[in-house]
Amino acid sequence: MYLILLGPPGTGKGTQAKRIAERLGLLHIATGDMFREAVQQDSELGRLAKSYMDRGELVPDEVTIAMVEERIDQPDAREGAIFDGYPRTLEQARALDEALRRRDKAVDIALHVTASDDVIVRRLSGRWLCDGCGEIYHEQHRPPKQESKCDGCDGQLKQRADDKPAVVRERLRHQRPSVELLAHYRDRDDLVDIDGEGDIDAVTRDLLAAIEKIKATVR
Ligand code: AP5
Ligand code: MG
Repeated sequence: MYLILLGPPGTGKGTQAKRIAERLGLLHIATGDMFREAVQQDSELGRLAKSYMDRGELVPDEVTIAMVEERIDQPDAREGAIFDGYPRTLEQARALDEALRRRDKAVDIALHVTASDDVIVRRLSGRWLCDGCGEIYHEQHRPPKQESKCDGCDGQLKQRADDKPAVVRERLRHQRPSVELLAHYRDRDDLVDIDGEGDIDAVTRDLLAAIEKIKATVR
């Protein structure tokens, strides 16, 4: 199965993608995580991506598409994947369709997770990430057992550079899924809207229920 999680910044895509990937045994492909790794390694890709991420803008399509195509060429992506934060533009959506078509596959469902701006800002301002394994925490909604330490790997928890209020405002301005992107999936009946404002377990339940519904028809 190839699943897509769409939605504005901070609606819970990463949190939910990790849970669903684990539950369904799917590979989790998160373009934001891939760019952050490249930034940490200070590679050429990382330096380029950082110049956009720091401003709350999207990394250019050409670069993003090439990175994802390389990733889905790996053997562990053959049986399926959950895409988190990709595609974000119509061009990326078309490139993904084409890349999967070449492998005789297709997107099975695009899950569009929504939340109000107030909820998004509260979620992003309280978010902490493990610098070891990337686990996502929240000061109120998902606190670690020990302050600043990851429950799983004992790594140090850090705030993301782009969670500063000024950058969050820019991300919300530039990075909501466009009408065209949503229409791309809605027009072929692949889009399901999911209310992301419930608690983490409730949103997971709704996502899994939507996936179950289409599982019988998987190509
Ligand atoms: P990316 O890392 O994808 O950032 P994003 O889209 O802004 O989304 P976030 O990761 O901020 O939020 P999320 O929806 O994953 O929420 P999370 O689960 O963490 O991208 C970063 C940058 O990379 C972009 O700005 C862009 O520059 C670049 N980029 C990435 N992909 C690209 C692409 N395809 N094309 C071009 N450029 C690209 O949850 C947020 C917080 O809320 C956490 O603290 C969590 O614990 C909490 N939370 C989650 N769910 C709930 C819930 N139901 N109730 C209460 N709290 C919750
Ligand atoms: Mg994320």
